[in-house]
Amino acid sequence: MKNLKTVESHFAFGENWSEYSALIDDVKIQEAEKGLLRLVDQKQLTGKTFLDIGCGSGLHSLAALRLGVTKVLATDIDHESVTTTKNVLQKYVLPAMQYEVQEVSVFDLPNKVSEKFDIVYSWGVLHHTGDMYQAIKDATQLVKSDGLLVLALYRKTPMCGTWRRIKRWYTYTTDKRQQTARQVYIFLKKIRFKLSGRDFNAYKENYYNSRGMSFEHDVHDWMGGYPYESITPEETESFMQTLGFELIKKNVHASGFGLFGSGCDEFVFKKML
Ligand SMILES: C[S@@+](CC[C@H](N)C(=O)[O-])C[C@H]1O[C@@H](n2cnc3c(N)ncnc32)[C@H](O)[C@@H]1O
Repeated sequence: MKNLKTVESHFAFGENWSEYSALIDDVKIQEAEKGLLRLVDQKQLTGKTFLDIGCGSGLHSLAALRLGVTKVLATDIDHESVTTTKNVLQKYVLPAMQYEVQEVSVFDLPNKVSEKFDIVYSWGVLHHTGDMYQAIKDATQLVKSDGLLVLALYRKTPMCGTWRRIKRWYTYTTDKRQQTARQVYIFLKKIRFKLSGRDFNAYKENYYNSRGMSFEHDVHDWMGGYPYESITPEETESFMQTLGFELIKKNVHASGFGLFGSGCDEFVFKKML
């Protein structure tokens, strides 16, 4: 069994983010800003320090800087994500904006980074680390007293076990087979839209409304996102309580069967110690 906490055992997230980053434009940046403001308001961001754990493309670190945080530390375990984030930030930030990008795993953050942050943000990351509960614990170590921890985690569904096996297969198979798997997934999704009378093309065209993301890249990320764990909102809330964090906001999905996958529930917790 491979050690799932190392980047070698992971899906190639960084490669996907590198390709996606070519699509970043003003509209996507604005959608990323809206996505962040859905969770933390302008007052909570202005003048604050911000740690992005699993920064991916760097788009949300960029959004935080544009919304007035004083300093961002963007981190990711994947070298390509780190390079992409550096490129994205270099291209879009203003000279006065202060940021740093580091290639570091969440599990090493408490030892490698001595500073604590007003806002620790980890969207769609900690369930892909190979040890979600330890990753959450490690992320909490970086939050200042009274600071915020913003998390997005995959919702547990009856299909999660099946998806974990599909993702493991997808991660280690050939590009050609990955491509075929994506085609099958999209084909089945189109049928589902048709059966429920929804417009698939409109959904795809407006997909950037979802935090500035791209449909094709998200399909690849979903199919491959491995390691994979999931959690219910109740489990998240009670675990965070044991760590001394109080829930101040959540955006959660209606429970589903998970046939086409799961979605991320979003949470904002405040450190009470
Ligand atoms: C699905 S992406 C989310 C990216 C970004 N947060 C976003 O919302 O677009 C997950 C990211 O987590 C990173 N990641 C996975 N394991 C990690 C770890 N142990 N430490 C830090 N980052 C990790 C991956 O490399 C990838 O860039």
